[in-house]
Amino acid sequence: MKAKVSINKSAVISQIDERIYSSFIEHLGRAVYGGIYEPGHETADDQGFRQDVLQTIKEMKVPMVRYPGGNFVSGYNWEDGIGDKAKRPRRMELAWSSIETNQVGIDEFQEWCKRADSQVMMAVNLGTRGPADAGNLVEYCNSETDTYYANLRRSNGFEKPFGIKTWCLGNEMDGPWQICHKTAYEYARTACEAAKIMKWVDPSIELVACGSSGSGMPTFGEWEETVLRECYEHVDYISLHSYYGNRNDNTPEFLGCSKNMDEFIQTVIGICDKIKAEKNADKDIHLSFDEWNVWFHSNEADGKIEKWQVAPPLLEDIYTMEDALVVGCLVNTLINHADRVKIACLAQLVNVIAPVMTVTGGGMWLQTIFYPYMYAARYGRGNALKVQTDCETYEAGVYGEVAYVDSSVVYNEKEGELIVFAVNRNMTENCSLELDAQGFELGEILEYKVLNHEDMKAHNCAEEPAKVVPFDKTADDGLVLEPHSYNMIRIKVK
Ligand code: AHR
Repeated sequence: MKAKVSINKSAVISQIDERIYSSFIEHLGRAVYGGIYEPGHETADDQGFRQDVLQTIKEMKVPMVRYPGGNFVSGYNWEDGIGDKAKRPRRMELAWSSIETNQVGIDEFQEWCKRADSQVMMAVNLGTRGPADAGNLVEYCNSETDTYYANLRRSNGFEKPFGIKTWCLGNEMDGPWQICHKTAYEYARTACEAAKIMKWVDPSIELVACGSSGSGMPTFGEWEETVLRECYEHVDYISLHSYYGNRNDNTPEFLGCSKNMDEFIQTVIGICDKIKAEKNADKDIHLSFDEWNVWFHSNEADGKIEKWQVAPPLLEDIYTMEDALVVGCLVNTLINHADRVKIACLAQLVNVIAPVMTVTGGGMWLQTIFYPYMYAARYGRGNALKVQTDCETYEAGVYGEVAYVDSSVVYNEKEGELIVFAVNRNMTENCSLELDAQGFELGEILEYKVLNHEDMKAHNCAEEPAKVVPFDKTADDGLVLEPHSYNMIRIKVK
């Protein structure tokens, strides 16, 4: 099989906002306790953070981490997680039927983010709580005034504000599973008033309104329109969430699921622009794809986990080779929409549907999906270029006709590099890739990494952490993408 990938130096989609490589840590399962935080662990630092995990996150170059939920945030009292740890309450956590000890809260998490060279993307509770509490949290985190919540932060040992710039107005409020689920209009009114208060407290923050928790939601479309009609002037982004799974055990079909993400993004852009026109507004609403991943492996096991435990092993999907290919295609889709998708969070980061896994009291290991996400976060910096891919297509079941080769191309002018991310979805044939790079003088190949395994269900685990890992390839015979492979190619250019 052959494919031609055409790009042009002057055909730029947009400069990539590095926040599209963000991730997510929720108070859920072993993400926080036993994940990023384990005071008794041999690598724990002075604050109880696992340094093995911290070091890995740093190397991944995760620019921003959404926190503290997720469904969790809709029942959360942020005040439970500040100040003297000995006085913090143990609570029944209703989103995941667990016990929350509150030993980690925003005081600690903002410090963890600093140590990980990352930023916090903070979500406020618009479920059991509302606009006033959200405003107080912004004051606690960001204000320099001589007022109650800013002084409370000082009395907890933080003279300087945390300076959190990106805030989510609740989480998945369209979902009946959400604590205090709302209709579109109920949410839109609350979000609008919360947004006003939060920006009065700190006008420099940016706000993300909740969109739909999936393109299959019965209110999808109507929800976004209602929310944006009420909130347009006060918000900067609308959220999208999507999880994919190979429930029919049909690999070629599963590999086509990024087409659904692409259509979801296009539809939401259309809605944003429709409301912009209705309002005769100047500004654009951008997209925050703040939860995306593969999530289905753990569904059955989660139903059997005993309730009301501290940090139960929930949502611990073990990712396979085919999941890594899907993550490669999904991240390509985000890059190819860099003009409107300015934030995206791989959900999640540690232990919970995550690229990074820990053994409580033991070591850590990396899942297959770690690699395509890490390569994009590390090297996908610069301008996203428009990609024209000419290749054969196949019928990918519910996703319709899908190209065998999925790609994105980034031009990092500072480093003088073109970075090609390409997935060959063809299960049996090599693909000889021709790169038609107009406006560039192509130089040497700096790095050519491939992730592949003969068994699509192969995965890593604590006992066998290097079963599916990237290997180096040369391009002596040109760029040849192996069947069912993920490829990251860095090329020197002038
Ligand atoms: O990421 C896991 C869960 O998925 C989040 O808590 C929720 O927002 C979504 O349904």
